[in-house]
Order: sequence, then C-alpha cells, then structure tokens
Amino acid sequence: MRLVALVYLEIRHGKRLEPAKENAEVGRNMFDTMTMTKVVGAGCGSLLVFLLGGWAADALYTTGGGHGGDSKQAYTIDTGAGDAAAPKEEGPPFAEVYASADPAAGEKVFGKCKACHKVDGTNGTGPHLNGVVDRQKAHVDGFGYSDALKGMADQTWTPENLNAFLTSPKAYAPGTKMSFAGLPKEQDRANIIAWLATQK
Ligand code: HEC
Repeated sequence: MRLVALVYLEIRHGKRLEPAKENAEVGRNMFDTMTMTKVVGAGCGSLLVFLLGGWAADALYTTGGGHGGDSKQAYTIDTGAGDAAAPKEEGPPFAEVYASADPAAGEKVFGKCKACHKVDGTNGTGPHLNGVVDRQKAHVDGFGYSDALKGMADQTWTPENLNAFLTSPKAYAPGTKMSFAGLPKEQDRANIIAWLATQK
C-alpha cells in the first residue's frame, strides 16, 4: 500500500514541475516513477507466483474433484481400531496356549470383568462366572440374558467357545448385553479361562 501511495505522489509531483526545471528533473522523476513501477510490478509478480504455486500444490496433493467436490480419501492409515469386530488370529493355536496357561496370571486379567461379574454364585450386571467353564450357555437361573445368548442356550462354554466369545463378545454373539470390547491377547484369554476353570 505504501509503495502504491509513493508512486502516486511521484506522478503528482512530476506534473507540477516548472517548465524551466522540467528538463533537468524530469529524467530523475521519470526514473523514480519507473523504479517504483518496477518494484510494485515485482511485488505483484511474486504474489502471482505464490498464488500459482498454491494452485499447483493443491492440484498435486488433492485427488478427486476440486474444492468442495466429491474428493476421495487419498489413502487410509490402519490404526488397528475396529479390529475387535474382525480379530486377527496370530501365533500358536489356542489349544496349545491353553495347555500351558497360567491361572494366577488369569486371576489378574479377571480384574477387567469384576465390575460386572462375581465368582461367588451371585449375579451382578452379568451372571456369576464360577463354574462357567463347561457350563451350558445362558443357564444361570434368575439372570435375564439377551436373546443373543438365549439363542445359544443349547451349547456349552467350552474353553474354545469362551476364547472366541472373549476375543470379541459382539462379534461372537451379536446383540449381547455384555458391553465389553474383548481381550485382544490370546495369552490373556487362555490365562483367564484357566483361572475360571478353577472357580467351581
Ligand atoms: C460391562 C459389564 C461386563 C464386563 C466388564 C464383562 N461382562 Fe461378561 N457379561 C456381562 C453381561 C451383561 C452378560 C450377559 C450377556 C447377555 O445376556 O447377552 C455377560 C455374559 C458373560 C458370559 C456368559 C455367561 C453365561 O452364563 O452364559 C461370560 C462367559 C462372560 N460374560 C465372561 C466375561 C469375562 C471373562 C469378562 C472379563 C474379561 C467379562 N465377561 C466382562 C457383562 C460384562
């Protein structure tokens, strides 16, 4: 803005020159005006370059339509979130891990279940879990199971079934009332099932 004002003043000044001084000074004033014009021109030029650069960068790093268009996500970073619904099984088979499971370590894992489950024969938010290993599913008297678990009442909570359920309760029994994300580690599941098996 200041440059523009200066150029303007220079032009005005040039016009008001006395005819006698004109020849002597007009050259300098002309030069000054030209210099200012060049400076402003250079400024505008570089702004233009930045602007064009911005557009070019936009075009390079945006896929799909233009601004506000139906752009698609360029790529997705897998954070592992949502894996609970589709657990990946890695490592040795469950039976192998279960055979050498550590019940004492499993008791610690049970800390995650204590808010809802007891092992003294009384029910909390969830049914009591003493005796659950090899018990029929949804068979604790007086507990109001979801239709999801009631629909499986003819099956048994074998260690394998418990392993599958505890990996992701919602994937194993869609519609279950058990709001628990699951135990992602196979070792944790094996340990807790081994401990539950000691709770008669
Ligand atoms: C937020 C509360 C909550 C937590 C935490 C929780 N559960 Fe449950 N659990 C429930 C409820 C409620 C049910 C009944 C589910 C239904 O009817 O769909 C249930 C059902 C079960 C059953 C089926 C029992 C039967 O009689 O059929 C097992 C086994 C079980 N839970 C194990 C666990 C284990 C092991 C943990 C910890 C790793 C755990 N739950 C954590 C609430 C919970």
